[in-house]
Amino acid sequence: MTGTAGPTGRSIANDHPSLRRHWHPVALAAEIGPEPTRVVVCGEALVVARLADGVAVLPDRCPHRNAPLSAGRVVEGHLECPYHGWRFGADGGCRFIPALGEGATVPPKAHVPAPVVREAYGMVLVCLEPGPDDAPLLAVPEWGALGVVPVWLPVVEVRGGGAQLLDNFLDFTHFPFIHAGTFGAGEDALVHDYDVEHDDVSLKVRYEHVIENSEDPLVATGEHPLLQPRVMEYTFSVPFAGRLRLELPLTGVENTILFWAAPIDADHSRVFCALLRNDVASPDEPAALAARDYEFKVLTEDVWMLEQLPTTSLPLDLPAQAHTRADRITVEMRRLLAAMVDT
Ligand code: FES
Ligand SMILES: [Fe+2]
Repeated sequence: MTGTAGPTGRSIANDHPSLRRHWHPVALAAEIGPEPTRVVVCGEALVVARLADGVAVLPDRCPHRNAPLSAGRVVEGHLECPYHGWRFGADGGCRFIPALGEGATVPPKAHVPAPVVREAYGMVLVCLEPGPDDAPLLAVPEWGALGVVPVWLPVVEVRGGGAQLLDNFLDFTHFPFIHAGTFGAGEDALVHDYDVEHDDVSLKVRYEHVIENSEDPLVATGEHPLLQPRVMEYTFSVPFAGRLRLELPLTGVENTILFWAAPIDADHSRVFCALLRNDVASPDEPAALAARDYEFKVLTEDVWMLEQLPTTSLPLDLPAQAHTRADRITVEMRRLLAAMVDT
């Protein structure tokens, strides 16, 4: 396990115990149906299903004889274990033991200990070991705003740590290189100075620059210049949540990319990524699907790089890697994560 100080200094990997005290997405809320599904978060197998009394996110292990509940089914709104038919509610409470019959007293140990679950930004999130204070949650002020439509990318599994994924998401110095095949071709490699605001668990960077906006149809007609100002506002919250707000004042386009990495095990993560668009009316219309496919291609470019990195952990001690002033945002992210693993 990584995450503690060693000969090469501190680093964070997906199996660090502090991650159990934080929120991680397990599924898109809209995709949870009555079919039980197995997911792994922080190395722990969970079963997810929509039941009569809400969404269940429970350990994927029946308290009776350890059968995987994800191999069961939903019967009359309860999750039924495939082995002896015990039935559970969303809170993990055992509601029925067929061998004892209706109305029988259920032994206390028959209940499944349920982790803490919440729904936010279209996702169901789990916290495996809640502390005395609620774990931080990224603020996404535009979520649910009038005219803002979430367009989800397919949830993908990658080889890489959540910290590495956010290191990549917040890093805007790689655009002309990794994304030369998509949007990066028109990006300036030079990064000017910028400030990083932060508190104990989150950071914010606002960066104004000029880009070639070849997506603007008014460029072809000569009504808009090709070179246009763009404002990027990045926010990050520990452990692995990011938001990028893109504003193009000339065209009025304002979009957000929501990016969340969920630790599966030491070496793998799942990426939950949504586009929040103010220029489409539905996530199914052609323009939304095109934006989704384009962003997925961008994500694929990032994953291509991340999966070639030699480790899946991220060094947190600054001397372990070379940093420049252009990396201030990801340096601050390292400080926040270092404070998180130290507490
Ligand atoms: S193992 Fe689940 S009911 Fe027996
Ligand atoms: Fe990227």
